[in-house]
Amino acid sequence: MTGFLIAFEGGDASGKTTQARRISELIGAVFTREPGGTEVGESLRELLLSPEIPLAFRTEALLMAASRAQLVEEVIRPNLETGRHVVSDRFLASSIVYQGYATGLPVDEVRGLSIFATNGLLPDLTILIDLPVELSIRRRTDMPDRFESEAIEFHEKVREGYLSLAENSPERWAVIDGSGSLDEVSSLVDEAVVNHLGLSLNEPRS
Ligand code: TYD
Repeated sequence: MTGFLIAFEGGDASGKTTQARRISELIGAVFTREPGGTEVGESLRELLLSPEIPLAFRTEALLMAASRAQLVEEVIRPNLETGRHVVSDRFLASSIVYQGYATGLPVDEVRGLSIFATNGLLPDLTILIDLPVELSIRRRTDMPDRFESEAIEFHEKVREGYLSLAENSPERWAVIDGSGSLDEVSSLVDEAVVNHLGLSLNEPRS
């Protein structure tokens, strides 16, 4: 008996973190995030998100993969093996899309690097909270990190990259319109989890 691994993906300010936390609580899953989620991962996160630290694109891809490898080994795999579900706020599709499609590193090489990092583990379901780039930029409130500081074209490539990954594997991806209210998006997420994984959900506590 193994648990399910559910990854949430989307552009910046798509609301995916709120949704990932909510569903994680509802299904009693372990919640984690990338980059980060372990001691070494959180240190790597500092480096990766600080716009003032210079990072070559390949270094960036390797550090993302290093954070992922540690997270899989230390948190994700052991929990799945005991039957717990795991919800991750971002997973390997983030690397394929940000370091591959948007930054311009070869997409297949970035995918290969990530699969090396996870030792072949893939999410059972990836939920894409999709939002037009204009809207996600308008929703932003805090200081921009390394990736948020990128030009609008970068974010357009991120969005297109996600949509094409989802289109290629519809059985493992759910694309959700993130422009609705919190409640509207929440019910779409619930529906995706029920339909794709056959999980039954308890009534959300109010
Ligand atoms: P975070 O503050 O978690 O952003 P968000 O709330 O949008 O998820 O920052 C994570 C940033 O790191 C985000 O801009 C995407 C980027 N990222 C990559 O470029 N590659 C990766 O593999 C991962 C996991 C994240």
